[in-house]
Amino acid sequence: MGVNATRAADDRRALISLQGVSKEFAPGQVVLDDISAELPRGEFLALIGPSGCGKSTLLKLIAGLISPSAGSLCVGGGAPSASEGKLGFVFQDANLLPWLDIRDNVALPLKLAGLPRAQRDERAEAMLEMVGLSHALGRYPRELSGGMKMRVSIARALATQPEILLLDEPFGALDEMTRDSLNEELLRLRELQGWTGVFVTHSVAEAVFLASRIMVLSANPGRIHALLDIDLPYPRTAHTRTDGDYHAYLTEVTRSLHSVGGHD
Ligand SMILES: Nc1ncnc2c1ncn2[C@@H]1O[C@H](COP(=O)(O)OP(=O)(O)O)[C@@H](O)[C@H]1O
Ligand SMILES: [Mg+2]
Repeated sequence: MGVNATRAADDRRALISLQGVSKEFAPGQVVLDDISAELPRGEFLALIGPSGCGKSTLLKLIAGLISPSAGSLCVGGGAPSASEGKLGFVFQDANLLPWLDIRDNVALPLKLAGLPRAQRDERAEAMLEMVGLSHALGRYPRELSGGMKMRVSIARALATQPEILLLDEPFGALDEMTRDSLNEELLRLRELQGWTGVFVTHSVAEAVFLASRIMVLSANPGRIHALLDIDLPYPRTAHTRTDGDYHAYLTEVTRSLHSVGGHD
C-alpha cells in the first residue's frame, strides 16, 4: 500500500473508539452504561447531560486516567494509557502554577517532556501568540482575567501538539461574552492545528456552536440518549449565531435534554 492509501485508510479509521464501555466506581453503582461511539479524526464531539451523568468520567476514560469496568476503548490505535503525549486536557479551573509566569506555565509540559530551554521557550511563545497573549509573556496568573487564564490553560494543553484535545467545561465560569469569543477562538485553533476534540459543557448554545456531533447523555446510569450530527459548515463565526439552522439545532438539542430530565 502506498503512503496515500495508508493515509486514506488511517483517516477512515476511528481515532477514538468506545465499545460497550461501562464504569462503576462501587459494585452495583453503574455510572456509565454501555457507551459505544466511533470518533473519526477531525471530529469535535460535545458531551451534554444532567449533572452527575458521567461526562467527566467519560473524558477520564478516554484520557486513560481511569479504566472501564466493562467494554473497551481504543485511542489512536492503542490503549488510552498509551496515548500520553497525543492528548491534551483542559479543565474548568485553569490550574496554573501561581509562582510561574505564563510563559513558564505553558512551557511546563515541554520541560517535563525533556525539551531544552530554548526550544520550549520558543514553543511556549508561539502558543501564547496563537491565543493572543504575546503581550503578557512575563505576567503571573494573579495578574490575568478569567478569560486570559483559560487562554493560557488552552495554550499549555496544545503546547505538546496533541492529536486529541479533551475539554471539561472549560468556560463554565466565564461571562457569556468572554465565552462566546473563546468559542470562536477555539474553532480557529482547531482549523490551524487540526486536533480532534471532546468537549463537556452545560451550555446548549456552546455545544451547537462548537460541535460536529453532540452526545446527549441520560443519568443514573449514564447512557447515550441521542447522538446528533450538527451539519453547520465550518468555519463558524459570530454570524453562525444568527443563522436559522443554528437556532433549529438549539431547539432540537434543548428538546433532547428536556426528555432526559433537563440539566442543571
Ligand atoms: N472517583 C470516583 N469515585 C466514586 N464515584 C465517583 C468518582 N468519580 C465520579 N464518581 C461519581 O460518578 C458519577 C458521575 O460523575 P461525573 O462523571 O463527575 O459526572 P458529570 O461530569 O456528568 O457531572 C457521580 O455520581 C459521581 O459522584
Ligand atoms: Mg463533570
